Amino acid sequence: MSNTPQIRPVTGARYSRIHGVGGYRPIRVIPNAEVLTWIDSSDEWIRTRSGIAERRWAGPDESVTEMSVQAAGKAIAQAGIDPARIGGVIVATVSHLKQTPAVATEIAERLGCGTAPAFDISAACAGFGYGLGLADGMVRGGTAEYVLVIGVERLSDLTDTSDRSTAFIFGDGAGAAIVGPSDTPGIGKLVWGSDGSQKDVISQTEAWDTAFAKEDAVNGAGEGIKWPALRMEGQTVFRWAVWEMAKVAQQALDAAGITADQLGAFIPHQANMRITDAMIKALKLPASVPVARDITETGNTSAASIPLAMERMLESGEARSGDLALIIGFGAGLVYAAAVVTLP
Ligand SMILES: CC(C)(COP(=O)(O)OP(=O)(O)OC[C@H]1O[C@@H](n2cnc3c(N)ncnc32)[C@H](O)[C@@H]1OP(=O)(O)O)[C@@H](O)C(=O)NCCC(=O)NCCS
Repeated sequence: MSNTPQIRPVTGARYSRIHGVGGYRPIRVIPNAEVLTWIDSSDEWIRTRSGIAERRWAGPDESVTEMSVQAAGKAIAQAGIDPARIGGVIVATVSHLKQTPAVATEIAERLGCGTAPAFDISAACAGFGYGLGLADGMVRGGTAEYVLVIGVERLSDLTDTSDRSTAFIFGDGAGAAIVGPSDTPGIGKLVWGSDGSQKDVISQTEAWDTAFAKEDAVNGAGEGIKWPALRMEGQTVFRWAVWEMAKVAQQALDAAGITADQLGAFIPHQANMRITDAMIKALKLPASVPVARDITETGNTSAASIPLAMERMLESGEARSGDLALIIGFGAGLVYAAAVVTLP
């Protein structure tokens, strides 16, 4: 018999669920009419091609940290827990412009989460789903009692207002959820993945180092720096989302043992209303299942879009606490994440 000492087994919660959700929407509304002062387009084109009527853009005081603290405060209040019990803070974002340190540590400190591990993840529009999967694992794995997952973006900082194909799409905001122990399964198996062969389909125009190197080269010529922005091959993303993501959504339903007609809500990433409609068709979602259509007033807020849409559906009474919701995020990477969850 070996004398090797055995590591004490770790025990976590049997199941996890979302205990609370909260959002923050910036004060400044940018209607399509304002976008039309930047690009050659029309209100009708933007509405029919994307479903967007207006979006919110953050002001100077609405930083990534500030929006996150506001959204998280609401989620914590709904969960009814002391922030000191939060044993992990995960912030999903692609638009926090200061790379080090992770913005999550400051947010954890502001919220009173003690010495909770806090870190940022970069998974674009699948960021909230990725964070939810990690939180579920932490709660069930016994390394945290409660985990705060935040999806937050200031995409206006990375929007080229002269680019016709993206200027009308992006918005700012924050959404947060508290994940914690549960007596019954509240988060189904996460179906997630990536396809790096399509890394250039949605990306920042330039890395910061090459942008700054050019700045050095033109310094003195008075040309200044061209700030990197987000670019995307709209049609390629559209086709991928419609064909591949409907399959991923179905896999999440199958993994959870749930049929579409048992859902109380469908909350896809708010990328484009036509993508949502195509997914509804592919999933044969009954007309009785309420669908998140937050994109109309919010635009595409990447990692923040699912929790913001979830909060709106619960606040408006379109969906109810305890209902099952299918969530799916997808975007730059390309990356995706889908799961069936019980609404808080
Ligand atoms: C961006 C998107 C709305 C563009 O719609 P689209 O139908 O693919 O548009 P296209 O780029 O094919 O352009 C179609 C026509 O509209 C024109 N057009 C493009 N942008 C326009 C604009 N802002 N206003 C008016 N016309 C525009 C094009 O010039 C083209 O005209 P043409 O037919 O005369 O050549 C759409 O591709 C999309 O939503 N893709 C997915 C985006 C997404 O989900 N991104 C986030 C993933 S996280």
